Amino acid sequence: MTDEEYYQSLELTQLTTLLKDYEEVKVLKLLETFTCSINEDLQNFLHNKNKAIRLEKSHVTRTYLYTAITENNNPVIVGYFTISLKVLETNGLSKSIIKKLDGIDKARKHIPCYLIAQLGKSTNCSSKIGQFMLDESIETIKETNSIIGGRFIILDSVNQEKVISFYEKEPNSFILLDEKDKSKENLKMYYPLI
Ligand SMILES: CC(C)(COP(=O)(O)OP(=O)(O)OC[C@H]1O[C@@H](n2cnc3c(N)ncnc32)[C@H](O)[C@@H]1OP(=O)(O)O)[C@@H](O)C(=O)NCCC(=O)NCCS
Repeated sequence: MTDEEYYQSLELTQLTTLLKDYEEVKVLKLLETFTCSINEDLQNFLHNKNKAIRLEKSHVTRTYLYTAITENNNPVIVGYFTISLKVLETNGLSKSIIKKLDGIDKARKHIPCYLIAQLGKSTNCSSKIGQFMLDESIETIKETNSIIGGRFIILDSVNQEKVISFYEKEPNSFILLDEKDKSKENLKMYYPLI
């Protein structure tokens, strides 16, 4: 099976839909099937009910889950992404970058944007589905963007060369906003929507 065929075989469901259709305990059990040893924050976001579930119920974020069915006929989460609105604080950014991000004012202190808050796949997933997941998250944001506007997407990338270049390489073309600094755990990147 190619990576794309595997990706197409997964079921994509919004967490909101699951919370409407099933009891919260059952939904949490499903979220707990997601494992990511390389990025604990990504795993905890689904496992801790004060994160994905609470934020979804409070309409702060929207989480999209990719589910596979195991040989024993059990559903397992193999990847997910979480998107939301965000206000970017421009403190520390150059005037030219602020102007580029804001579109109008080089002195703007806060700029509304979209956020990819989480994105990743399970440690058990050997297929390269990262690009498909990222494309889907950007397409989902673009649907909203065509209705209400907005100029860019922000994300905090894990500060690892391979992850940074995953976001930088074509067709993604995310641009680093933070200076490269090995002491930082995450680096902010943006994706222009215009
Ligand atoms: C980033 C990601 C979506 C890319 O998915 P993909 O295109 O399917 O590609 P891969 O999983 O093969 O990852 C590409 C490389 O990055 C490495 N990598 C991925 N996440 C990493 C992390 N958090 N820390 C260090 N290296 C990482 C992989 O080991 C792999 O290295 P290799 O090419 O030497 O095998 C996926 O690797 C992932 O979900 N990673 C774990 C979660 C994560 O950290 N997400 C990023 C949050 S900003």
